Amino acid sequence: MKIFIDSADLGEIREAAAMGAVDGCTTNPSLIAKTGKTQREIIQAIVEIVDGPISAEVLGTTYDTMVAEGRELAKIHKNIVVKIPLITEGLKAVRTLTAEGIKTNVTLCFSPTQALLAAKAGATYISPFVGRLDDASTEGMQLIEQIVRIYENYAFDTEVLVASVRHPVHVVEAALIGADVCTIPFKVIQQLAYHPLTDLGLAKFLEDAKKTPKA
Ligand code: E4P
Repeated sequence: MKIFIDSADLGEIREAAAMGAVDGCTTNPSLIAKTGKTQREIIQAIVEIVDGPISAEVLGTTYDTMVAEGRELAKIHKNIVVKIPLITEGLKAVRTLTAEGIKTNVTLCFSPTQALLAAKAGATYISPFVGRLDDASTEGMQLIEQIVRIYENYAFDTEVLVASVRHPVHVVEAALIGADVCTIPFKVIQQLAYHPLTDLGLAKFLEDAKKTPKA
């Protein structure tokens, strides 16, 4: 399973990339707003750090505006993936951008039927939001199971990108189901590496090493 970092914070992205944990990056308008910089400034900086797919989201909600924005975003760098909301106009935009060879990430997916339509439109990635479904008292990972099964049944090329990840168990479940990608906030990437027994074991080894005669 590929791991993307779900962040627009350049410090976080550099740190996770240094760990070798980052195959790509996803951003969204809320993450970009936190930086105080323009989307273009942030995306141009991310492409220098991450050598992989980088999702940048359109802000338009009509076919024409999404296609125009998508074309402009795609010009920034060859690794740009245009993120499009899963609305009817968005699906039309995905079809056009795909025909032009521009990669797309269809975002805000909350149902298997939405995912089916995104694949039919030719999306490169589908982003089901598991955490937000959990927040709404619905089992988010069940949606991942359904989409993976549907895409396998019909050999769709669209990759399942698990989004709105809130904790390490989401990551484990995504990997067990066989999702293609999991996009993970920096805090959760750090949690993936942590185990209290590792810290306890290391402290004991270092303590015992002090008792070893010096060579
Ligand atoms: C996905 O691409 C989104 O940026 C993200 O995963 C949304 O997560 P949230 O529900 O924690 O905002």
